[in-house]
Amino acid sequence: MKNLHRTIHHWYQAYGRHTLPWRNTDDPYYIYLSEVMLQQTQVKTVLERYYFPFIERFPTLKALGEAELDEVLKCWEGLGYYTRAKNLHKTATLLKELPPDIDALIKLPGIGKNTAHAIAAFAFRQPVPVMEANVKRILCRLYRLENPTEKELWELAYTLVDRENPFDYNQAMMDIGATVCLPKNAECERCPLESICRGKEAPWRYPVKKKRTVPVREEHIVIRSYDERLSLYRRSGKFLHGLWGFENMEVPPCAAEYLGEVSHTYTHFKLNCRVYLYHESTPEQENYFTLDEIRTLAISKVDEKILKLLDRETL
Ligand code: ADE
Repeated sequence: MKNLHRTIHHWYQAYGRHTLPWRNTDDPYYIYLSEVMLQQTQVKTVLERYYFPFIERFPTLKALGEAELDEVLKCWEGLGYYTRAKNLHKTATLLKELPPDIDALIKLPGIGKNTAHAIAAFAFRQPVPVMEANVKRILCRLYRLENPTEKELWELAYTLVDRENPFDYNQAMMDIGATVCLPKNAECERCPLESICRGKEAPWRYPVKKKRTVPVREEHIVIRSYDERLSLYRRSGKFLHGLWGFENMEVPPCAAEYLGEVSHTYTHFKLNCRVYLYHESTPEQENYFTLDEIRTLAISKVDEKILKLLDRETL
């Protein structure tokens, strides 16, 4: 194992993504934030649009805890999976500092096993493995696992981790997964794990891809306009809770004008919206906003797409 760790270490020195800002800090809050942002979002997007503005606005866990949730959601706008932002805020209201202990970290809102391990390894330099999607793929290929359980993967990850240098090792594993052991075209000849990889003859076989058919949800969205302002309401159900959005109606009013269709794919379903504009002669709803005001509200990706449809219309 020592040789393997040395090889991984050298590979990381030569090819690792050392400039990522969350790799150049040992502030647990910044590392925690980056991990949460990176859970379902690409490094490029987090880096270019979200990480820096967020830490500028909320520079400490304390500052985040003292902020209004609305403002946090606004900074999260477009990243999706808003529960992540709400949990981040909730955790910030509960603590002044993050604990180094994995079991204590896992008890916090929104911190799962992998995020707890990442915080422990990167912020507190504990000898534990990290196991996000890229690392899972590497493990499956190394051991020719088609459909392993989480437990099996964690056991393997623990046996493989470099306990003397968990930081470089874990960052390297993520980089190998993101740049070499790619889902479609694995570049095995460049891989520092090639000598121990049992799956290198047919890497595409591991893990077996699960076929998922996502259900499609159809909605009629009605944009009510009155006096050059639009009606939005604050969502209160489970879906996109806390964000502002347009109204979903079973049957749009007869006089509503059809604007077009937008769709957005979420993890568990695809949303198709037929969008209508309805000019009201008297205000029938509670909250109406100008376009400038809407820009200050936290709205979802679908509602943003709906707004784009409106661009060419007269209100
Ligand atoms: N995804 C999750 N954690 C990451 C990290 N530290 N660097 C790059 N991508 C990541």
